[in-house]
Amino acid sequence: MEEKVIVDGLTFVPYLRREEIQKQVKRVAEQIREDMAGSSPLFLCVLNGAFIFAADLIREVGLNGCSVSFVRYKSYEGTSSTGKVKQLIGLTENLEGKDVVIIEDIVDTGLTAVQMIADIKKQNPASVRFATLLHKPESSKTGFQPDYVAFSIPPKFIIGYGLDLDGKVRNLKDIYMVEE
Ligand code: HPA
Ligand code: MG
Repeated sequence: MEEKVIVDGLTFVPYLRREEIQKQVKRVAEQIREDMAGSSPLFLCVLNGAFIFAADLIREVGLNGCSVSFVRYKSYEGTSSTGKVKQLIGLTENLEGKDVVIIEDIVDTGLTAVQMIADIKKQNPASVRFATLLHKPESSKTGFQPDYVAFSIPPKFIIGYGLDLDGKVRNLKDIYMVEE
């Protein structure tokens, strides 16, 4: 494993090694497989950050009847002081009666997750579950608790395994944390 990584003048130190990531991905996959036994879930991968986690997770879950789709959020500035408004885009499937498993890279405030679940529930799925690679519980503004969490981490900036800094370094095989 490489030591430090420097991106845009910021220094990052190794935080979660690839072996540990794979171990926790397996653990989460086993939980999902048990909970979804007999179902043909639709996995919804939230782009861009979750693509690597989703690719590893759905292969570990190994449910043959599952399907996979991709969504992302388009952010734009609100016209009032409510600040940023986000809109779910890319969802073309009919979710009615489906068991949906959302796959995210990270949950911090929980605001996006709560809004996304509300948007999806409007389409009358049979169930909605939420899996995230990383959870920063200390950053929560909603009390939102994901159903599946690979790692709970402190509120520090991290990169790698799909997570970026200004679009860069998503390809790193390990996860790095910004150096204090
Ligand atoms: N790293 C990358 N992207 C993020 C983070 C982070 O720590 N938190 C929210 N988006
Ligand atoms: Mg994300």
